[in-house]
Amino acid sequence: HIELTLDRPIVLVGLMGCGKSSIGKRLAMRAGIPFRDADVEIEAAAGLTVSEIFERHGEQHFREGERRVIARLLEEPPHILATGGGAFMDASTRAKIKESGLSVWLKVDLDELVRRTARRNTRPLLKNGDPRETLGRLIDLRYPTYAEADITVEGSAQDHDEMVMRVAN
Ligand code: S3P
Repeated sequence: HIELTLDRPIVLVGLMGCGKSSIGKRLAMRAGIPFRDADVEIEAAAGLTVSEIFERHGEQHFREGERRVIARLLEEPPHILATGGGAFMDASTRAKIKESGLSVWLKVDLDELVRRTARRNTRPLLKNGDPRETLGRLIDLRYPTYAEADITVEGSAQDHDEMVMRVAN
């Protein structure tokens, strides 16, 4: 069991495959507080998968839904919130997260991201082209912004329990 005294949600940010959902679930379970996954909530609200939203309505439409859903989740009592990798890149969503949550960037190296995203091929941004190349490009593009999170936790993500403990401390 982990003791967490929270007055606001812990918001996990970082690239696809860094372990936001799995580490978030473990942390929530061990702290006895709820876990929420923004992508899952967006899918429930839309009645479509993330891929379907991208295909039928485009990324812009997805980002608008994401903005609304995260704003709503941030109002909920303290919990652990996993966000999609692009959420923190949206200026408006980022401002809300910074205002109402404690943001934690899970910083994981490229090899690990490639390994972990290869397990499930459900990510629209990795559907075309070489995943390593795409993820490498996203690292260059996004890391300066992820670095604005309140806390950075570095890890291999292989050892999720260790990452959980680092977030908790
Ligand atoms: C995205 C990451 C995905 C999902 C969507 C877009 C991104 O979430 O929100 O495919 O822009 O990085 P995960 O980071 O949970 O894979």
